[in-house]
Amino acid sequence: MRIDPAELAFDANGTPFAPAYGDVYHSADSGPGQARHVFLGGNDLPRRWAGARVYTILETGFGLGLNFLATWSEWRDDPQRPQRLHFVSIEKHPFGRDALAALHDRYVAYAGLAAQLRDAWPPLTAGLHRLHFEHERVTLTLAFADVTSALPQLTLCADAIYLDGFAPRCNPEMWSPQLMKRLARLARVGTTLATYSTAGVVRSGLEAAGFALEKRRGFGAKREMLCATYAPRWPVRGNAYSAAVCAERHAIVIGAGLAGAAVSERLALRGWRIDLIERRTLPAVHVPGSYAGVFHPHVSRDDCILSRAARNGFLYAAKRWSALQRTGHALSWAKCGLLQLASDSRQERRMRETAAAAAYPGHYARYVVRAEAEALAGCRLRAGGWWFAEGGWMHPLSLIAAQLAAASAYGAGSRFMQHLDTAVHALARVDARWQALAADGSVIATAPVIVLANSNDVARLATIAQPLRSIRGQVTYLPAQQVQAPRVAVSGSGYVLPAVDGVVVTGSTYDFDDADPALQESGHAANLLRLAQLLPDAHTPLHASMLDGAVGFRCASPDHMPVVGALPDVHAAHERRAELSGAHLAQLPRRAGLYCVSALGSRGLVWAALAGEMIASLIEGEPLPAESDLAGAMDPGRFVLRQARSGML
Ligand SMILES: Cc1cc2nc3c(=O)[nH]c(=O)nc-3n(C[C@H](O)[C@H](O)[C@H](O)COP(=O)(O)OP(=O)(O)OC[C@H]3O[C@@H](n4cnc5c(N)ncnc54)[C@H](O)[C@@H]3O)c2cc1C
Ligand SMILES: C[S@@+](CC[C@H](N)C(=O)[O-])C[C@H]1O[C@@H](n2cnc3c(N)ncnc32)[C@H](O)[C@@H]1O
Repeated sequence: MRIDPAELAFDANGTPFAPAYGDVYHSADSGPGQARHVFLGGNDLPRRWAGARVYTILETGFGLGLNFLATWSEWRDDPQRPQRLHFVSIEKHPFGRDALAALHDRYVAYAGLAAQLRDAWPPLTAGLHRLHFEHERVTLTLAFADVTSALPQLTLCADAIYLDGFAPRCNPEMWSPQLMKRLARLARVGTTLATYSTAGVVRSGLEAAGFALEKRRGFGAKREMLCATYAPRWPVRGNAYSAAVCAERHAIVIGAGLAGAAVSERLALRGWRIDLIERRTLPAVHVPGSYAGVFHPHVSRDDCILSRAARNGFLYAAKRWSALQRTGHALSWAKCGLLQLASDSRQERRMRETAAAAAYPGHYARYVVRAEAEALAGCRLRAGGWWFAEGGWMHPLSLIAAQLAAASAYGAGSRFMQHLDTAVHALARVDARWQALAADGSVIATAPVIVLANSNDVARLATIAQPLRSIRGQVTYLPAQQVQAPRVAVSGSGYVLPAVDGVVVTGSTYDFDDADPALQESGHAANLLRLAQLLPDAHTPLHASMLDGAVGFRCASPDHMPVVGALPDVHAAHERRAELSGAHLAQLPRRAGLYCVSALGSRGLVWAALAGEMIASLIEGEPLPAESDLAGAMDPGRFVLRQARSGML
């Protein structure tokens, strides 16, 4: 979906105004005053959040973010504030950063918070954007989408709801009876709601959805406002996604690659005790010249699931990495920009058409003709293509080291335990806890929650009903003085990075059914061929037999999407296969406390940060940072469900 930004305008009184809707953004009497009286006061906040571990507020219509700023400000001032505040807001026409700055100038009390909000403000691209503040104790999840399509895509359990569309007569889709039913799906019994509108359609819609209404004194010129509590007079199934209470917040994470490091960091941030088990001895820091990978968005004509999920992952990862750096964790990476070259003129034309239709913000993705691409790269290229200005390269080992350092810094001493040089041979479930067992049967660690982040080895420890594929890959290191490297990362049939520490990394091979961990001369030769396809002038006098490089093994799922979430109970699903033939993922039996992040394929850098946040959110019952169809496309249960649906289970 293409995002049309809001237009900055004011009415005769100087109140922010939306010409497209013919209504103002807030009461002419005072925006902050309305936010405090109607939305916070109407939900009895801050009183109702006192002492909560996690508190979730859902808002329709983010606008200039005044309600968010008022809520955040109240949270800061409240000694009884919840440990973690989630604010999830839906906005179809977000303001650009400059327009927000002009608007925020008017509310001096929030100047500091508003500046932080604008610093974190995402590009105006469709989907969910998760922003963290206050050392991640305040999290804003923005859904840039139409409310009608966005609500079914949210996975959360709201404690309070702010209904803040424009007036129902100018903006009926923000108040429809159907919308109220969707809100009810995201509520729990006792969830409160507040809005400035007392229109009949709002009252009847809320009542029909199960909310009990109460009129209270309105703000400013408005005589009345509406408060409501979700209290259906009929039996309801209840919101299954309520804040999970795990009495013992302790997890085992198996594998200290990109996935395991991200999961460990996200759980440790939330105060979890972690036992991280890794069969290798990790190098503490990155070695110059070691393998580097690229990160960049994925774009497609139809903005397919992969493109949407990769956008979510790419934007979240870049923010997380910058945050790690700001907190003093060194990373070896560069947002130097990445060119993804077209393979031929037909593909160039398709890229151009896609770029025109999607109208992405220029710094997210734009099409460049060959001459411009060459100017960006500083060398001759074969074609034009996508320019991802915020893409680049990363040494994964530096990222892993930074995340593990952050994880151990969150908790004191023994709260983050690394078991290196230790392989998990099997899992056992004893007294509602998981045990990670070594080959001699000894228990390495035991905890109520276990996260499998051990790539291809996941399938040996647990069943997901489909084999994962191991794909060998080899990269080649070229001495920088032997090849004219581009100034930016360049990809296409392969990739090549700018020179870093005297080395140009280029690659990589895709070797199926090849488990050889040693460098192969044929792999280097294939990489040199790929390089020549990207950069016509990149001749190196070195023969493949003289080159150095690295070998790794990717893990891919049959549908090429990652595998992230709670593992299915395949045995129980088999027993209940008849009733599951028309079921949804939510109905699939799961193995208690068993989660997985695997099959990151060739995009580990793009997936891992989001996957870590998804797992931590799932375990804690916090709002999911990905839309539900994207989470479904990554769900480890999808294979079993497909089998059940097609009668193959
Ligand atoms: C040649 C090549 C080039 C690539 N280029 C890029 C790129 O440019 N950009 C990009 O984003 N991605 C790239 N990738 C993919 C990326 O490297 C992977 O997606 C990523 O490493 C996957 O991370 P992971 O944590 O899931 O798995 P891994 O990195 O494989 O980590 C899994 C860890 O689990 C440990 N483990 C396994 N079994 C056990 C056990 N039983 N007990 C204890 N520990 C265990 C392993 O030792 C390992 O450390 C490339 C991959 C290859 C091979
Ligand atoms: C009254 S303003 C919200 C003010 C905001 N809560 C604040 O604190 O600044 C209403 C908002 O709803 C948004 N909106 C209108 N129709 C929408 C729709 N169909 N889906 C999502 N957002 C919509 C508008 O763009 C506008 O920003």
